[in-house]
Amino acid sequence: FGEFPFVVVSNRLPVDRVIDAEGNSTFRTSPGGLVTALEPVMREADGAWIGWTGTADDEAEPFENDGIHLIPVALSDEEIELYYEGFSNDTLWPLYHDVIAPPAYHREWWESYVIVNQRFADRAAEVSAEGGTVWVQDYQLQLVPRMLRNQRPDLTIGFFNHIPFPAYGIYSQLPWRTQIIEGLLGADVIGFQRTADAGNFSRAVRRLLGYQSKGTVIDVPVEAESEVASAKHRISTVRDDKLVRTVVAKAFPISIDAASYEDLAHRPDIQARAVEIRNGLGNPDVVMLGVDRLDYTKGIGHRLKAFGELLADGDLDVEEVTLVQVASPSRERVRTYQKLRDEIELTVGRINGDYSTISHTAISYLHHGYPREEMVALYLAADVMLVTALRDGMNLVAKEYVATRFDNDGVLVLSEFAGASDELRTALRVNPHDIEGLKEAILQAKQMPKSERARRMRAMRKRVQENDVARWSSSFLAALATPSHDLALPK
Ligand code: G6P
Repeated sequence: FGEFPFVVVSNRLPVDRVIDAEGNSTFRTSPGGLVTALEPVMREADGAWIGWTGTADDEAEPFENDGIHLIPVALSDEEIELYYEGFSNDTLWPLYHDVIAPPAYHREWWESYVIVNQRFADRAAEVSAEGGTVWVQDYQLQLVPRMLRNQRPDLTIGFFNHIPFPAYGIYSQLPWRTQIIEGLLGADVIGFQRTADAGNFSRAVRRLLGYQSKGTVIDVPVEAESEVASAKHRISTVRDDKLVRTVVAKAFPISIDAASYEDLAHRPDIQARAVEIRNGLGNPDVVMLGVDRLDYTKGIGHRLKAFGELLADGDLDVEEVTLVQVASPSRERVRTYQKLRDEIELTVGRINGDYSTISHTAISYLHHGYPREEMVALYLAADVMLVTALRDGMNLVAKEYVATRFDNDGVLVLSEFAGASDELRTALRVNPHDIEGLKEAILQAKQMPKSERARRMRAMRKRVQENDVARWSSSFLAALATPSHDLALPK
């Protein structure tokens, strides 16, 4: 057994290796919400985090960063291509996002996925203390729960899927659909963003393996001898003379550290920066904002089309309204992403060419990532935030905008295809496929009276403040610590 009672496993570590011009290498903490969520838990539990540093063939030894033990897993150049860019981001990513882009299926990508998942599972098995808890994150590592349970039936294993889980008709395209489901069922609790995702998963389990579920609980037969003890220790029932483990599949919508966004929004230097941004844009009446990783799931093209048509129809005027679109670079070696970039930049160029004037730009397009301080200044500067994802597990940008607006002002236009729309009910909810509807919502946002803006924003803020990321991790970990037959009992 290893030494750590609590272990998080994710494809990326919460730090990235950065190599400067002179070839010196350091680690930079990535600004992700997951780190903020898990940092306090990790410190308290003396936890370790297993993941990749973002650099090929990085054989770094385990090290400590801000009181967290980090355990690097090395990926070769070829594995980055096959496991990460290939199977994770050119098979699973488009498949799980309702095939917005066509998924590619290649056996050698799958084989690499199996090998890399086994490497992460081996590392977790090595470092976890007896009877410890391991929490595996996201679609890149769906085989890890089963692999880990095979080696270490003493562990309590959680899995959280940060992206959607598709309906069976789509999921069933996957040639390795049964192996993935079996991989996930190695966990005790499988968390999803939305109730609909958890339902899709339970239905896939029933269709592919015939295991029945009641509410959020799935009965999984215990086959390996070694598992009997752990199943008994955790939860088990006998059904038709067979011992079954109960696995919980349930929604735990992820969130952000809302208070830290509000704190930044109160900082005078960040407020001054927000004013500076508006001045820089020529002080238009209305600033609209889009913030996304440059990904085809985000509906950036639909947003631009609606905005462009409103300019063409004369419903918007560049003298009054401007759109700032931040599109941070992502997965740039994957072909679909390269194509998307070309399309978006062509569209932006055309709209600007047609409608900008010498003094007013229709769209300020920024292909960069920005630090959190600059993002908060942008949120404060934006009268209207446009989140038009075609499919999105949650969309934390929507929650960040809301958390920032302590002035109870600003309008959020939010796609019903983003997980956040289950919670942010008073946003202006849109179906981004309906371009006319999207155009109407943009105009409605622009014209919305201040009192209505405040009423809608207040309700959303309450929700985001209450259900912050600390609540997310503590409720997941509480479910993991709860014998699941308690959850199975009808209330
Ligand atoms: C999504 C996924 C994460 C992933 C992130 C950035 O949020 O759910 O697992 O880390 O995108 O993508 P990347 O491929 O750069 O890690």
